[in-house]
Amino acid sequence: MSIIAENLSYTYMPGTPFERVALRNINLEIEDGEFVGIIGHTGSGKSTLIQHFNGLLRPTEGRVLINGMDTAGKDLKELRRLVGIVFQYPEHQLFEETVYKDIAFGLRRQELTEEQTREEVLKAVKTVGLNEDILEKSPFELSGGQKRRVAIAGVLVMKPSILILDEPTAGLDPRGRDEIFGFITEIHRTMGITVILVSHSMEDIARLVDRVIVMNDGTIEMDGRTGDVFSDIEKLESIGLSAPQVAYLMKKLKAVFPDINDRVYTVSAARDELLKHLKRKGA
Ligand SMILES: Nc1ncnc2c1ncn2[C@@H]1O[C@H](COP(=O)(O)OP(=O)(O)O)[C@@H](O)[C@H]1O
Ligand SMILES: [Mg+2]
Repeated sequence: MSIIAENLSYTYMPGTPFERVALRNINLEIEDGEFVGIIGHTGSGKSTLIQHFNGLLRPTEGRVLINGMDTAGKDLKELRRLVGIVFQYPEHQLFEETVYKDIAFGLRRQELTEEQTREEVLKAVKTVGLNEDILEKSPFELSGGQKRRVAIAGVLVMKPSILILDEPTAGLDPRGRDEIFGFITEIHRTMGITVILVSHSMEDIARLVDRVIVMNDGTIEMDGRTGDVFSDIEKLESIGLSAPQVAYLMKKLKAVFPDINDRVYTVSAARDELLKHLKRKGA
């Protein structure tokens, strides 16, 4: 499904002493099936922006269209099903006695048989890489990474056409992070849905997404192919962000070996480029 934002602005608590402009004239188009990363400092407007994509927030100005459907229209229930958002620290929203009930929660309003529900829950659990024997446990018995995955399964079980993850690996160790990114990439590849990943980790964004949107102070500062965005180090630094560390290393190497390609921003691409370079040198 496609997403279009037109002249979108949003102000929290307008007309009060707490008024806060969070989005300023955003124009954006995300096509069906894209895998997009959104980066930016805390407070730059990332979470506010994505909450417009399922109608949780309504534009103060401008409009948002999901597959041509204006989010200011009536059918919010349908919109919430089509656009699944995994919020930051989603495990705080686990509250049922069993993992099974938590994952099945969103399905209650659909007219499914017990058996169909079970089937969908099992599918979702498998997608996030958990074993089905977890289903009868209490969510509170689980590790942090497991809880996070259960919460994501609760969104996936609704079969969204757009999946949005707001800092899905915040607070997890590298292994927990890799597990989550592994199945997110797999979901994008096999389910062909639109995936939007909000993260402050340049490294993670660089190795996962095709397109990067950089937010700064409520505006879109950069929007382009991952390689183009991360090779513009000056621009990133001008807004106080940095490129993935590897990009800096490659730039330094290029100063010494001019025929190296320095448009490289993941560790594995850097390894390939250096091996290619050594081969050319006959080493
Ligand atoms: N519920 C809220 N009430 C008032 N201001 C808010 C609220 N949520 C966010 N803001 C403000 O809106 C701006 C954008 O915040 P947010 O979208 O959460 O940014 P990010 O997700 O990039 O950290 C910030 O200035 C933040 O303080
Ligand atoms: Mg946020």
